[in-house]
Amino acid sequence: MNKPYFYVTTPIYYVNDKPHIGHAYTTILADVLARYYRSLNIPSFFLTGTDEHGQKVQKAAEENNMTPQEQCDTTVTRFKELWERLEITNDRFIRTTEPGHKEIVQKVLQSLFDQDLIYRDEYSGHYCVPCERFYTAKDLDENMLCPECKREVQEIIESNYFFRMSKYQDWLIQYINDNPDFIQPSFRANETLGFLKKPLGDLCISRPKSRLSWGIELPFDTDYVCYVWFDALINYISGIGYGSDEESFTQWWPASYHLIGKDILTTHTVYWPTMLKAMGLEMPKTIFAHGWWLTGRSKMSKSLGNVVNPMEMIDKYGLDAFRYFLMAEMTLGQDASFTEDAFITRFNSDLANDLGNLASRVIKFTLRSCDGTVPELGPEGPEEAELAEALKSAETEMEKALLDMRLEQGIEQIMNAVRAGNRYMEQTAPWSLAKKGETEKLNTVMNRAADLLWRVSVLLSPIMPDKMRELRSCLGFPADADFTINDITSGDTVIAGNKVSDTGGLFQRIQVKEEPKQEKKQTKKDKPKAEAKKSEDKTGTNLVTFDEFFKTQLKTAKVLEAEKIEGTDKLLKLQIDVGGEQRQLVAGVAEYYKPEEIIGKTIVIVANLKPAKIRGVESQGMLLAAKDADGLKLITVDGYVASGVSVG
Ligand code: MSP
Repeated sequence: MNKPYFYVTTPIYYVNDKPHIGHAYTTILADVLARYYRSLNIPSFFLTGTDEHGQKVQKAAEENNMTPQEQCDTTVTRFKELWERLEITNDRFIRTTEPGHKEIVQKVLQSLFDQDLIYRDEYSGHYCVPCERFYTAKDLDENMLCPECKREVQEIIESNYFFRMSKYQDWLIQYINDNPDFIQPSFRANETLGFLKKPLGDLCISRPKSRLSWGIELPFDTDYVCYVWFDALINYISGIGYGSDEESFTQWWPASYHLIGKDILTTHTVYWPTMLKAMGLEMPKTIFAHGWWLTGRSKMSKSLGNVVNPMEMIDKYGLDAFRYFLMAEMTLGQDASFTEDAFITRFNSDLANDLGNLASRVIKFTLRSCDGTVPELGPEGPEEAELAEALKSAETEMEKALLDMRLEQGIEQIMNAVRAGNRYMEQTAPWSLAKKGETEKLNTVMNRAADLLWRVSVLLSPIMPDKMRELRSCLGFPADADFTINDITSGDTVIAGNKVSDTGGLFQRIQVKEEPKQEKKQTKKDKPKAEAKKSEDKTGTNLVTFDEFFKTQLKTAKVLEAEKIEGTDKLLKLQIDVGGEQRQLVAGVAEYYKPEEIIGKTIVIVANLKPAKIRGVESQGMLLAAKDADGLKLITVDGYVASGVSVG
């Protein structure tokens, strides 16, 4: 029988630099998941920490005139401070320089060496310091740069130790094929399988101390230290007691989720499973790779100066709004764009207009017309049934969203319930019920509206713990009253008789200052431009602004595979490559293109469309085509263009 438990990990972060939004995002995501599972009364363990060895950290220490240990000790406090500020509820923070972790890494190394799963050999290759990865010449890109980060690599020839990773290639392919949940989203499993099409080499797991001294010494050769990834991945088991506390280890292993960013897929889906297999341990249940936060449409990078600083955002807009934005805005698995404009738009619509407005209406009206006390529930009618329906669907969809890792969809359902709450207030108009003296109906309305807010506050608590506590306190619950999701799904209402209070608004709308107009005075000639500002032109066509248009990301994509979806005449299932990312699309083109006619074509897709299931098959985007009386033609590009290139 499966024991119900939840063990979630984040990557452990390099301590060469201060934390940024990417680190904050995965850690908040893990925190939100852990809080949800705890709220469902499922025993949970949440591990995060820092990756403190390797060349990257040693180099940063040199640049900062510190010893590597000083570099680690200084930077680790930045991470710990940020986690405290973000109210991260991890159960353990692991540092790979802890003696306990080092001991386990050495035990693993010795045991694999004793079983001849580690051997010594001559090595020649190319090393990328930022990625801490070795590549063969064939792996490098056309400019002989790192295939991952496109930076320069160092050529290295030396004697080293190797883990017999190649031995597990066939097993790993089979395992991935047999376990669809193992690597999520599924296109990342395809990406790993694509990587495994090439022969898998053995993994170099040592560095001679003469070149790099900052690492865990190999127990069987003191001239070498362990490769940083081999050391780091072991944190996922050493952090829960592998080799030191068997009871804890058996309670939490295998992990429910290893959350990672898409750039560290191969280390987690190839190195780590083969290492575990060699150790005779079970595989994690799911390795989930999320996308990247971009600034607008560009990659965040220090040199471009467009990296979002989490601390600044929290100082400006508050912690809970920041956590909410990150969880609601990113479609799990896809890239998302972080701009202050997008942040303000979402804040104002979801938090200020919908949730904040409902809370303020209910609290103010209860204070004014119900003596400040939530009334007893009176007779219910169809409006109440409709409201209950919206709430039920928020509860069930949120649980489903957790299981499917579609948090943003769960949040959307909760916000739908909030919107239903605002509609309910408008339809039932408690202010006129009060005027007409219809007390029984009024009591029902104010009881249901307050009850909805209470339930929503519990559902959103894992995302906005402080604000939702504040909301409950306004609704008359003691500040320390902790409710679980089980409390709200039981159906019982506990709110009647509560004394409400007004703390002056949960979320104040963010006022956006109008940019000073740079346009020159309008002349006759300019008139059409000005007219274009309206949403329609003379022919009645809807006009969009540049900004609106660019919300839709159009990209080129190469079709890798195509097959008909069984039981349909119109649909093809495509595997496409979008700049190195493999995705699946469902396209209604089967009547016009045979699978073999579409394979190899460079098409244009909408890349930021919410994934949807079509006939039960997931589609991560939409292709563009034009159709007239003669049939349908795909939109393609005129000549060679790489895949993943923006169109527009
Ligand atoms: N130390 C390794 C992980 C070892 S896990 C056994 C490492 N550390 S890291 O500090 O460089 O990166 C940590 C995570 O930050 C990665 O998952 C990476 O995907 C994520 N991000 C870095 N920039 C990001 C964005 N702009 N957006 C989202 N996440 C991104 O790799």
